[in-house]
Amino acid sequence: MRIASVVGARPQFIKAAPVSREIRRHNEELLIHTGQHYDDLMSDVFFRVLDLPEPDYNLEVGSGTHARQTGEMLMRLEEVLVDEKPDAVLVYGDTNSTLSGALAAAKLHLPVCHVEAGLRSFNRRMPEELNRVVADHLSTLLFCPTETSVENLKKEGIEKGVHLVGDVMYDVALASAQEARKRDILHRLGLAPKGYVLATVHRPASVDDRAPLASILRAFGECGEPVVFPAHPRTRGRMREFGLDAHVPSNVRIIDPVDYFDFLALLIGSRKVATDSGGVQKEAYFFGVPCVTLRDETEWIETVEDGWNAVVGTDTGDIVHALRNFNPRGTKSKSFGDGHAAEKIAALLETIR
Ligand code: UD1
Ligand code: UDP
Repeated sequence: MRIASVVGARPQFIKAAPVSREIRRHNEELLIHTGQHYDDLMSDVFFRVLDLPEPDYNLEVGSGTHARQTGEMLMRLEEVLVDEKPDAVLVYGDTNSTLSGALAAAKLHLPVCHVEAGLRSFNRRMPEELNRVVADHLSTLLFCPTETSVENLKKEGIEKGVHLVGDVMYDVALASAQEARKRDILHRLGLAPKGYVLATVHRPASVDDRAPLASILRAFGECGEPVVFPAHPRTRGRMREFGLDAHVPSNVRIIDPVDYFDFLALLIGSRKVATDSGGVQKEAYFFGVPCVTLRDETEWIETVEDGWNAVVGTDTGDIVHALRNFNPRGTKSKSFGDGHAAEKIAALLETIR
């Protein structure tokens, strides 16, 4: 059978890597890159380091407002799907590429299969929440990473086609730890193991207004240790726009985004992580690094319940307090599966025939 996989943003390339490999063992995959992310460090580098095949199509939609970006994707995806007639369309996570993939496929009566189904923040001001809800309700197969995500779907009346498979990001993280430990990025950046905080910030709620972004940067400046901050292009752009790039505290080192293995190396070497990223919260948990989440809620509540994630928002004082004092002690549960989610997904896809 032929599966069309739709990817477009950094975390989707990472999630797709193990799944694509498993699909291609027994079936054909058509890999469609929407072009949502296009900088080398946001896109191509992941194909190189994770051995992802070249996309069969790059729709090159680029950046834009939600409507423009999603609309362009829909139009271009529809053309490809009509021409290629895949047996099913696989979408990942909760970006505009996910929404467009799900919508274009469903309108063409193609089965939609959603990796990372059932996640909810219950905050409809997040674009991702809208994307997830729509994708889930259009899906024939829903691959859930956690028990919580299965429960969330049940509460919305979705039980058919739901499979608890574990988290594909756990698969990738486990498979990549050894390579990450070989990387010399700490040395290159002059960082002492467990002597710094690793930060990532890119959500609209954190960076699209000056106040939260300034508050976060101030907190990093006051936390009392080096902070290494691979900055997302959205964040870089906002810092320039708000004039914050000229006032970066001296202990905060802003660097370009790094590839996946370098990022894991930085994460494993850090004393704490400060982030608003979904993926990074989980990776911190996988590798036992305390995480301070710069949001008001999280989809990954297992990390909080197990005591490894402090969700503190964007207030300077709260962030500084958590960076200095948050000390997890809890044991980690097996909430994210067994590292074989991709195999389960590939096997379940075959049931679509
Ligand atoms: C998107 C996803 C978000 C995900 C994130 C992963 C949506 C609505 N959001 O957010 O869920 O967590 O990807 O990183 O789909 N830009 C560049 N170069 C690039 C890509 C983006 O300069 O290669 C800049 C552009 O100015 C663009 C901005 O970043 O306007 C935002 O990019 P966009 O893809 O719209 O959203 P993200 O913030 O990346
Ligand atoms: N990541 C990376 N390089 C970076 C920052 C993040 O490889 O400079 C990886 C990180 O390991 C994680 C993923 O990107 O797997 C998270 O992506 P992002 O934070 O952009 O999106 P989210 O998970 O919030 O949707």
